[in-house]
Amino acid sequence: MLQYEARPARRVSGVMQVPGDKSISHRALMLSGIAEGMSEVRGFLASEDCLASLAAMRCLGVGIERLSPTHVLVRGAGLRGLTAARQPLDMGNAGTAMRLFAGLLAAQEFDSRLIGDASLMRRPMERVAKPLREMGADVRTQEGRPPVDIHGGRALQGIEYRLPVASAQVKSAILLAGLYADGPTTVISPALSRDHSERMLSGCGVRVEVEDLRIRLHPPQALKSLDLTVPGDFSSAAFFIVAGLLGADGELWIRNVGMNPSRTGLLDILRAMGADIEVSNQRESGAEPVADLRVRASELRGIEVPEALVPLAIDEIPVLCIAAACAQGETVIRGAAELRVKESDRISTMSAGLKALGVSTAELPDGLRIQGRAGVAFSEGSIDSAGDHRIAMSFSIASLRARGPILVRDVANVATSFPGFLEAAASAGLDLRLSEASCP
Ligand code: S3P
Repeated sequence: MLQYEARPARRVSGVMQVPGDKSISHRALMLSGIAEGMSEVRGFLASEDCLASLAAMRCLGVGIERLSPTHVLVRGAGLRGLTAARQPLDMGNAGTAMRLFAGLLAAQEFDSRLIGDASLMRRPMERVAKPLREMGADVRTQEGRPPVDIHGGRALQGIEYRLPVASAQVKSAILLAGLYADGPTTVISPALSRDHSERMLSGCGVRVEVEDLRIRLHPPQALKSLDLTVPGDFSSAAFFIVAGLLGADGELWIRNVGMNPSRTGLLDILRAMGADIEVSNQRESGAEPVADLRVRASELRGIEVPEALVPLAIDEIPVLCIAAACAQGETVIRGAAELRVKESDRISTMSAGLKALGVSTAELPDGLRIQGRAGVAFSEGSIDSAGDHRIAMSFSIASLRARGPILVRDVANVATSFPGFLEAAASAGLDLRLSEASCP
């Protein structure tokens, strides 16, 4: 089993970039695969999760050429040009891939089966199967979990669906199926969630009307091809934003970061805690806002995190917990029950890891209560990432405020979202060493 030894370092500085956005990379492959003609995607995230989507599109008959790991050409098969895969489609660790493919494949003429790794096989899939069945699709789960079996050849109807939780994956699955429906499809969310699908579908020429939390998609005749440069993933930048704040001094620049407002809740939360983060050179790339960030070491204070910001920071809550442990006073995070069904139960894995490093923490049904401490906030120790990439990277950042080394166990899954994390961390001044554990 792979592990990091994260040794205390103090100074965080330099200029860096993070790899391409995971959510956008998945969507770029799926939409360009059903578009007309050749699409070009630069800045593609060559991580295990997105490579699972890439392999699945190839299995469905889409021609994909990789000019480099991050530069991809996709020969669109057209809206009705996908063909049956000869074997189950393996989504690896990628919940986004499984849920979005469920939507896309629900509308095809052929049958499909979606499987994944041990973590993904435990994750809830009825949340997508249910609305797809309402549209007329035949989608089955095994007691709510994968494998997801889809029997094709069903005519789909446009529906109006109220999401029970603010989930971009479920919203996107319904919109993808809605491309094939006999009339408009409407999705109403209880709160804002990432809107990359809506933006990219519009970029492909699909009529998507957005009115607050209500989205209406009109089925198109065809999708236009994409010519896209994927921005750096805000969720990957988040580890270094927090690192820059926790470093003893110095200034860290992170260039070319996706700044879609449905993703940047962490910035608002950290600023309310006293963080010094400057956003500059704001621009558009494709249909997405992008900017450069300058982060300076900051004294943080604990806050009650506004619940409305939680869906906009859902993947960043683990690293927010690290910032909270280093903030003076108490931080309370609520309204984050969705964390219990991510790659691990992130409420309990974070709570266990924080406790193992001497931080006073209480687990809530829908969040955490963390007693922070300025200065050295963590003892040395060993934590289990439960095979969850974001937990592993978060505890690596904790080493900046630790008394001694932190051993982060089970880190292979960092490759699902952040290839090159170790090199990026070293360039910013962290001291992480990768090794193979001698015994489990
Ligand atoms: C994602 C949506 C979020 C997020 C996940 C990626 C997406 O999940 O946690 O990492 O790309 O649509 P939910 O849709 O379950 O909120």
